[in-house]
Amino acid sequence: MKTFFNIEDLGDLRTALSEAQEVKQNRFGYQQLGKNKTLLMIFFNNSLRTRLSTQKAAMNLGMNVIVLDVNAGAWKLETERGVIMDGDKSEHLLEAIPVMSSYCDIIGIRSFAGLTDRNFDYAETIVNQFVQYSGKPVFAMETATVHPLQAFADLITIKEHKPIARPKVVLTWTPHCRALPQAVPNSFAQWMNRADVDFVVTHPEGYELDPRFVGNARVEYDQHKAFEGAHFIYAKNWSNPGVTNPAEYGKITCQDMNWTVDAEHMAWTDNGYFMHCLPVRRGLIVTDDVIEGAHSLVIPEAANREISAEVVIKRMLEAL
Ligand code: CP
Repeated sequence: MKTFFNIEDLGDLRTALSEAQEVKQNRFGYQQLGKNKTLLMIFFNNSLRTRLSTQKAAMNLGMNVIVLDVNAGAWKLETERGVIMDGDKSEHLLEAIPVMSSYCDIIGIRSFAGLTDRNFDYAETIVNQFVQYSGKPVFAMETATVHPLQAFADLITIKEHKPIARPKVVLTWTPHCRALPQAVPNSFAQWMNRADVDFVVTHPEGYELDPRFVGNARVEYDQHKAFEGAHFIYAKNWSNPGVTNPAEYGKITCQDMNWTVDAEHMAWTDNGYFMHCLPVRRGLIVTDDVIEGAHSLVIPEAANREISAEVVIKRMLEAL
């Protein structure tokens, strides 16, 4: 595997899920694969889970790991061509990429959406330059539009907890005080569309996700109706994707607190599980009792990030 951004990069989903199960039972079984190999993890943004789980996965595989926080200790990077670099950015990404890639065998990259220019974000301008100019396998640790390691971990978690063969999974928009990217809901929708689940998306009108990710998934604007009979509730805020009105891209156009997942919402489900990728703002996304309740899966989800990362890095090592 040379790149990991979308579900297609993983090939057959059943095979990948079986591999995840096997890796979880034998997570130190492939140490020879990573011997004398280096993973470079590049962060343009903050992270807790991605940073720790991906590093742990690489160490499980016997790799050396270098972590670079671009905005803390490195030169500030210019990402656009044709600019006169007379501001605070001292180095261009086009020099930095081949330099960084000369020190490693595999690159993980985290780069959030700017949320001001939809075309720039959805073209994945930054990560595509890494793919084009690094000459190394590159995987997403969350980009402007996707977070596949999270979606893979979420699917592993759903498989481990599903009460019936084809569970109902609901992705619900929830309110938030800051404008957040659409990467997590995009990838979750993309992956659920391919998984053996009954998938429903619910959000206020105007918050439609990009068609290339939401595909033909059922969209239900009535959150109560969407939750009925659900086995898994996946809560997430996202800012306006600008699909119905491009001028609203990246903006907060709804703050309706009726969408916050509380015990009454969960009572509409079929004894459903609560899921969220974390970090989560309590009181906005979910109430304390729900996230702390017996049917909260937020900790197992986070733990499975180690597994999704290990499968992806293992496959990249096997293809070197
Ligand atoms: N879920 C997730 O990616 O968490 P971090 O932002 O802490 O990495």
